[in-house]
Amino acid sequence: MRTPLVVANWKMNGSREFVEQFFAAFKLAAGTAQVAICPPFPYLPAAAGLSGQQGGIALGAQNLSERDQGAFTGEVAGAMLRDIGVHYVIVGHSERRSLFGETSDLVAQKFIAAQRADLIPILCVGETLEQRDSGNTFDVIRQQLQAVAGLTDASLDRAVVAYEPVWAIGTGVTATPQQAQEVHSFIRDSLGSAGQNVQVLYGGSVKSDNAEALFAQDDIDGALVGGASLDPEEFAKICRAA
Ligand code: PGA
Repeated sequence: MRTPLVVANWKMNGSREFVEQFFAAFKLAAGTAQVAICPPFPYLPAAAGLSGQQGGIALGAQNLSERDQGAFTGEVAGAMLRDIGVHYVIVGHSERRSLFGETSDLVAQKFIAAQRADLIPILCVGETLEQRDSGNTFDVIRQQLQAVAGLTDASLDRAVVAYEPVWAIGTGVTATPQQAQEVHSFIRDSLGSAGQNVQVLYGGSVKSDNAEALFAQDDIDGALVGGASLDPEEFAKICRAA
């Protein structure tokens, strides 16, 4: 039985005041899904303090360096994140792949760096609309998974996979529950026997009014939520639905 997990990806949004207001308003009911919040780096310590007052909320980062330390101006190492209480880190988000030139090879290095630092990587995979329309969805997902050579049985119990169709991110267009389920089931099968226990999250315009139908699918174990995670009441509804 896989525990549902709902992750908030705030992207480059928020302020110190927003973090305080969010945690004052965000109330988790007992027995809901595992929940993780990924604020921008500067707000991680404040979020750690405030989320710690409510049990059951883990902290995540949106990115990390593939290196462990040294002369790499502007980079943040996994061990530093672990040091301040971070548990999860997103790797391979499509915005990092498309806007910041992250290749599948770099994503693989970040995945390994995260596990080396005892963080749980949330590996994002997903096809563009063009790739879907030309019938290449499964090939693209297979390649993105295979690029992470660390995605072996041993490492899979310390990893999460998120299926995020690029055409559904921030667009208001969600994959239908059936479209998402089809890919989730493919991802699980591609991961072999260990895939049965891996949490596979869906991401892309998840909101409280579409969450329930998505979570009802056999292979959808939760969500990676962007826009809707900035509203504490809306995000709490999604967590309850999981
Ligand atoms: P969205 O973003 O919920 O705003 O579509 C999801 C994501 O990018 O993780």
